[in-house]
This record gives sequence, structure tokens and C-alpha cells, in this order.
Amino acid sequence: TWLNVPAGPPDPILGVTEAFKANKDPRKINLGVGAYRDGDGKPYVLYSVRKAEDILRASNPDKEYLPISGLPEFTKNATKLAYGVDSVPLKANSIASTQTLSGTGALRIGGAFLARFYPHSKVIYLPVPSWGNHTPIFRDSGLEVRGYRYFDKKTVGLDFEGLKEDLKNAPERSVVLLHACAHNPTGVDPTPAQWKEISDVVKERKLFPFFDMAYQGFASGSTDRDAHAVRLFVSEGHQIALAQSFAKNMGLYGERAGAFSLTTADPEEKARVESQLKIVIRPMYSNPPLHGSRIANTILGSPELYGEWEGEVRGMAERIISMRERLYDALTGTHKTPGEWGHIKSQIGMFSFTGLTPPQTEALAKRAHIYMTADGRISMAGLNGNNIDYFAESVSAAVKG
Ligand code: LMR
Repeated sequence: TWLNVPAGPPDPILGVTEAFKANKDPRKINLGVGAYRDGDGKPYVLYSVRKAEDILRASNPDKEYLPISGLPEFTKNATKLAYGVDSVPLKANSIASTQTLSGTGALRIGGAFLARFYPHSKVIYLPVPSWGNHTPIFRDSGLEVRGYRYFDKKTVGLDFEGLKEDLKNAPERSVVLLHACAHNPTGVDPTPAQWKEISDVVKERKLFPFFDMAYQGFASGSTDRDAHAVRLFVSEGHQIALAQSFAKNMGLYGERAGAFSLTTADPEEKARVESQLKIVIRPMYSNPPLHGSRIANTILGSPELYGEWEGEVRGMAERIISMRERLYDALTGTHKTPGEWGHIKSQIGMFSFTGLTPPQTEALAKRAHIYMTADGRISMAGLNGNNIDYFAESVSAAVKG
């Protein structure tokens, strides 16, 4: 029956984890998937999350189905976190939202909703490069995926002129995907002044902005500062779509807690949009999982846990920044690695786009048991005091050839 099914390639990101797990060398390092590790290279369960779980356990909660669009208090708190407590559409009760299967689910539900109801276009523009899963998510949602220039290999920074030119040339009312902060995979974000200019171009071309905010808190250590672009666009009068994830900033990876929202004209429009979001979701997975959204909601709803959580997000962001500095020093100082490595320090968020080529990344996997995505992206969180010297030495050897 399945004779015609061709073997598919491994996933460009999660396939790296599979290869890493199969390797038995004690020196092996996984810098593929963007998942935080502590200073000992171990997965990290936040204290605020543990406390929230204790509170939940003590309340002896049931395991009933959630509504199709999830835990209502959770989606409310999630939108507050993203849009800000003073957000005009939030106060006006005009943000349509639903709980989703983390950020990927939010993007997919958003993509499916736009494919069904956005009246003006079926085209979505993604930055080049973008997170590897964006293209299949939106293609499988029924949208046509195109690219806009984002990363300049020469400057290892933002190709701002290219970005503006491509958005100006996009057909009016196309959808444009924007990484709200901590761009994945490049670690390069626009400045606040550049965001304002992007907002102007989006307005001029009547583009529809769809924000992916998977790393709120990871870019600057502050959830408010990292929400700057989203809040700017809303205050500039754009109607936006937003995908949120609590995988990274609460370390709830496998709990699949996320949210999708759309700003709408008024509460009546919001209610209509929400009714259709439910109709998109019900045949896909009926309703979302319970535990992760309960944890996130417990943290977001308690001033004390919220404060503790913010401190932990800052702590994770700071450890990553300290690894950037150590890596830069080791590559340029100790190992005199040929090339310019300033971007290791200037890039932000969980990733660094190293500039390593596919043959170099292959050599690192084969010879040094170091795993990263083929585009040379490394998850900085996989580095720690025990493996950073070995990593720098191995990269240096790979670059020297
Ligand atoms: C990543 O880019 O590594 C993360 O977003 C995890 C994933 O699902 O790819």
C-alpha cells in the first residue's frame, strides 16, 4: 500500500537532536535545537514553574476538557503580557485570542485562519532566512510563501535597505511575517528606529503584519522591552496577528503552551473572529492541553510568581550573554581563529548565526561530535563552562581546515 511513499529527510532542526542522541562520544555537544540548558548543560525547570505546579497540585484540579480555545484566564494573561496592560485594544476588549499548541500551533492556526478569511491576499512574506519551520507551516496552511531580504552576509547584520525595498515591492495587502524579537536563526533584530520605519512601509503598502514572538524576554532580559515592536505596531494603528510561545521563556517546551491573537475593530468583530478560530481548531485537535496553560496562567496571575519568573528569564538571558563573551574571547584570543567574530557578541537571543559553512558544520559533527543546524546556527544555551573551550578549539580547527 505504501510502496509509493518516499523516505523523507530528517527535520533540519529536530533531526540534529536525533543525530546527537545516537552519538555516544562523551565530548558531544548539541547546539541544534533552541532549548535552554543550565550551567551544567542540563535542561532547566524554572523555580517559578515548580512553585506554580505545587500550587496547582495543592488545589487538586480536575482533568476535564478545556474549551476549544483553551483556558480563558490564560489567553487573557498571555495577551496582557504581549500587548501590555495599557494596550488600547486590550482595554477595548477587541483582541480575539485562543490558546494554541505552543508557537508552532499559533502560527498554524493563524495561517489557516488567514488562508480561510483574509480577503485580500494568500501571499505571506518571510524574512530570508527565517526559522526553518515557517515555510512548511504557512505552505501547509494554504498560503503562498515568498521571501524578503533580512540578513546581510557581508555585514553579518540586518539588510535594512533590502528589507524595505522588498516590502515596498510586495503586492499591496500581502501578509508579512515579522519576528518580534530575538530573530531566529540570525540573532539580528531591527533597532526601535528601524521598527518605526518598517511600520511606515507596512502602512504605506497596506501589508498585514503577523508577529511571531517565540522569545519574549530572551532578547533583552525584559519581557516589556522585547514586546516593543508588537506594541509599537498596535499603537501605530496596525491590526496585527500574533503568535506567542511559552516554550522558551517559561521553559515549558513539551507542555505546548502558546497563544494566537488578532486585534479586531471592536468586541462584536472579536466575537465573530473567535467563533471562527474555534471552527478552525475543533477538527484539528479538538481542544488544547491543560497542564502547561495552567502553569503559565498561575505564574502570570500571581504578582509574586510573576516577579520571580521575570528574574529567571533575565538570568537565562544573562547566562547566554556571558557565553557569547567567553566564546568571542576564546575564538579570537586563545585560538586566534581567522575571520571576524564580533557578531557572536552583537547578536541577541538564544542563537548565534556563526557564519560556519555546511562543510564546516559537517566536519564539526564528524570529527568533534558537535551538532548544530547546517546553516551554522548555534544555540548559545548549549554552551557552558565545561564545554566552551572544547567548542572554541574545535571551531577554530574547522575554520583553519
Ligand atoms: C528552534 O528553532 O530550535 C526552536 O524553535 C525549536 C524548534 O521547534 O525548531
